[in-house]
Amino acid sequence: MKLANGSFGLDNEALIIKSGIRNVFTPHIPIDEISHFFGREDEATRLVSVINSPGQHILLYGDRGVGKTSLAKTTCKLILHKLQRGHFFEKRCDSGDSFSSIFVEALEKCGIDLSFREATQTHNQGGGAVLNAVFAKADLSSKRETKTTIVTTFKPDSPSWVANHLKSLSGIMLIDEADALQDESDKKKIAELIKLLSDHKSNFKLVVVGIAATGEELTAGHPSVERCLKEVSLQRMCDEDLKKIILNGMNSLNLRPDDSVVEKIVDISAGYPHFTHLISLKCGEAAIVRGNKHITKDVLKSALNEAVKDSEGALQRMLESTLRVLNTPQEYKFLLLTASYCNTPEFRSSELREKLKSKFGVIVDSQTLSRRLTKLTKGSEKTILYKPARGCFQFTDPRMPSFLKMALNADDDVM
Ligand SMILES: Nc1ncnc2c1ncn2[C@@H]1O[C@H](COP(=O)(O)OP(=O)(O)O)[C@@H](O)[C@H]1O
Ligand SMILES: [Mg+2]
Repeated sequence: MKLANGSFGLDNEALIIKSGIRNVFTPHIPIDEISHFFGREDEATRLVSVINSPGQHILLYGDRGVGKTSLAKTTCKLILHKLQRGHFFEKRCDSGDSFSSIFVEALEKCGIDLSFREATQTHNQGGGAVLNAVFAKADLSSKRETKTTIVTTFKPDSPSWVANHLKSLSGIMLIDEADALQDESDKKKIAELIKLLSDHKSNFKLVVVGIAATGEELTAGHPSVERCLKEVSLQRMCDEDLKKIILNGMNSLNLRPDDSVVEKIVDISAGYPHFTHLISLKCGEAAIVRGNKHITKDVLKSALNEAVKDSEGALQRMLESTLRVLNTPQEYKFLLLTASYCNTPEFRSSELREKLKSKFGVIVDSQTLSRRLTKLTKGSEKTILYKPARGCFQFTDPRMPSFLKMALNADDDVM
């Protein structure tokens, strides 16, 4: 018997790549050019004006997936292109970063090579071979002591040292995901640096991006920083702008979604452009593979399945682990799906009861409903709901309603 040799979907992939759709709908990549950037006029205007005001720097904050990086990158690049010349630096922080690792590239532009310092330190603790190699590379072969002295004056941990070097640079530094910095003192140092650059009226501007708590952490113990660090909170996108993302993208690819499909994508997205891109991409890919540019509700349904598979693991795991331990998961699915249609982040069980009745014709008595909702707030791990106040419930992850609408709309058992 001959085993079938699958093509592993390569033929379909080739079609999709040729269409260019993955450069139009980019759920996992921030936008950095104006032609793919929609809405956000007010926020972009504010960023432009703050960055161009002497002594002022920006803190941009909002939920994950709401469009912070896209707004920051697109605006910074536009400023540097149209208004002033200068360098653009971008550092996406992770838990391994510290104050000194953030500015490596910018310091390099000032002629300071921090890797050189590290190499020399290796020598100071040990053998001579590394030393020779480093010195030979730096063309400093003979004067060992003098050069060591210069090298040890590197103080990338010190805000004033970093400020002294960066203050004469022109440009913008985007410090993204600043909330990932583990050590409080690193955030304090960023605040100090901002204060110093501001005092020097430097043309080197910092745009710090993070979640809301980042602002408090940055300004804690440094109230004077508030004067030079302007906060911009980024809210969800409006439906009108989400629609523009879908229609412009679809048009550019000659794809024709039904109005009801566009509406459904906007509805599921709930203000998060990440989901708009993700579902539009999956719809478009399905249409391209089928060779039919018309996107119907059926296409959307299969696209939602694909979109769920491509969603962040954390959201999938949270839903799975919630349902796994329940005796009647189906009933809870209804409940969660209905909760995801509540318009405000927090909802009361009476509101949900009304919605269950009007949307699905399901009638639950209020005590049972409260008990079930409370059950969803209890568990050893992070739970899907929490209680922000007595009698109120809220999704722990603000993106969960969109994920539920995708996952459960694609689920035949529920719909
Ligand atoms: N103004 C916008 N116009 C079009 N797409 C956007 C816009 N803002 C964000 N996006 C898209 O939404 C997704 C999430 O954006 P991103 O900037 O990465 O969010 P965040 O940094 O807040 O997590 C990305 O796929 C990006 O392409
Ligand atoms: Mg981001």
